[in-house]
Amino acid sequence: MNMNAFSKKVAIVGTGLVGSSCAFCIVNQGICNELLLINKSHERAVGEAMDLNHCGDFTHSRTKVYAGTYADCKDMDIVIITAGAPPKPGQSRLDTLASAANMIEGIVANVMASGFNGIFLVATNPVDIITYHVWKISGLPRNRVIGTGTSLDSSRLKSILSDIIPVDPRSINGYSLGEHGDSQFVAWSHVTIGSKPLTEILKENKERFGNISLDEIMEKTRKAGWEIYNRKGTTYFGIANALTHLTRSILNNDHQITAVSAILDGEYGLQDVCLGVPAIITMNGIEDIVELNLNPHEVQQLGITYDVLRSNMQTIGY
Ligand code: 2OP
Repeated sequence: MNMNAFSKKVAIVGTGLVGSSCAFCIVNQGICNELLLINKSHERAVGEAMDLNHCGDFTHSRTKVYAGTYADCKDMDIVIITAGAPPKPGQSRLDTLASAANMIEGIVANVMASGFNGIFLVATNPVDIITYHVWKISGLPRNRVIGTGTSLDSSRLKSILSDIIPVDPRSINGYSLGEHGDSQFVAWSHVTIGSKPLTEILKENKERFGNISLDEIMEKTRKAGWEIYNRKGTTYFGIANALTHLTRSILNNDHQITAVSAILDGEYGLQDVCLGVPAIITMNGIEDIVELNLNPHEVQQLGITYDVLRSNMQTIGY
């Protein structure tokens, strides 16, 4: 897609808490010209659009927000899919796969029937497998089907680290990789603070940081979503901001690197799977996948998360 082809038009399918929070972020950050809202209840989308348009006098740029139908997706640069139901108490994100996959089939078929030829951004959980499903159904090239993956987990990791080591999360670089779920892992060999490897900082500051357990931090990162879910029944601000960040990266041709659900075709030695890896995000979607030189333990963890995803993908025919 070339730059001037961008009309900066974005659609959000699903205006529940995640979708409406994402719409609110997009309007507040002024990153597109038109924002189409599609929802099972059309009237709900109409109400959300009215509420957002009334922000007009208070935002630094104008976003024309309107409720519409799948037919309106034809001219969209990006379609964001947030529709889906949070897990019930005691369920994992993977437990919602069957119902989410079924729902997604109708959504993607309807979007593609409009003649849509842009980029899908997917947040519906279990996001890695659902992103793969969207890719298969849509027939779009794999670089134009992106899931939020471990982008939010990586942000959570930095937030947790910044509570322990007093630096701004934005001065911490590193990723949680793999499943956006319980089998994700942190590539500690590539976590740096101010470009200094975290492992060196810990080694050189035993008296200050000797009691830090990287395994405990990784587990805290994995469970962070549940800590919120158990208190407010779901999550939406973090994931909405992750979607908005990716939308902005695409529309502005940012070339920023974010850990997203990417469909792999040989990267990291893996095929036929979608999982969280760092990728360069541009107007073309995933411009390139960044292959970290994982250490042997991390390669083993990547294999575990790959197996978890592949075994669950089989339940919907992949
Ligand atoms: C989360 O971890 C919604 O799965 C998403 O917050």
